[in-house]
Amino acid sequence: MSKSGDAETSLKVDAESEVDRLFFENYGKQSIHDEMIGDKVRVEAYRQAISELVSGKTVIDVGAGTGILSIMAAEAGASRVVAVEKSKMALKARADIQKHRLADRVEVYHGLAEDYLHSGEKADVVLSEWMGYSLINENVLASVLSVRDRCLKADGIMIPSRAKIFIAVFEEILVQDDPILREMQSSPRLNAVVERCSKA
Ligand SMILES: C[S@@+](CC[C@H](N)C(=O)[O-])C[C@H]1O[C@@H](n2cnc3c(N)ncnc32)[C@H](O)[C@@H]1O
Repeated sequence: MSKSGDAETSLKVDAESEVDRLFFENYGKQSIHDEMIGDKVRVEAYRQAISELVSGKTVIDVGAGTGILSIMAAEAGASRVVAVEKSKMALKARADIQKHRLADRVEVYHGLAEDYLHSGEKADVVLSEWMGYSLINENVLASVLSVRDRCLKADGIMIPSRAKIFIAVFEEILVQDDPILREMQSSPRLNAVVERCSKA
């Protein structure tokens, strides 16, 4: 993925496009968040990293969803957290943050990360759970990297900071037998990433 000019523009989220509109509509539903919150391995891995790394720091949570990671960051001692979320789940996150009495340290930005980054605010930590099937399926990484490039302090850190993709060759017939592979094959957002990358 290039960070320069045209390539970056072509990978940007376009909230007006049908694919991205449906994507955020989907993330406005509680059920998809219940599934993520119920994933103990995922939640505990984030809890551990956050508890070790954010005390006394300023944090931007890109794609905050229900605000779970922002709340963890505030509870782990972050001095300020901005929870950036485009879907209407941002409204629920804001209410939960108030309920946890964390509203003095956690601000919810209800909008696109691509719009937030013009705020000019710099943070010590860019936190995000951007991974989809096969890592890049949801194309949230491009948004996270835009925030990193504009909003992360020079000595700041990313959570997570690295990832690996393992690739293996398999017969197409397997796709039909596997619900996740079948979903990916017909994923409009993954297809949009591939199309945008091919034009970049
Ligand atoms: C995989 S979910 C993670 C939610 C939450 N951080 C968690 O760990 O449970 C990704 C979230 O990012 C949001 N998102 C994706 N791209 C975004 C963007 N460009 N700007 C703002 N929010 C975005 C989605 O609406 C979704 O709620």
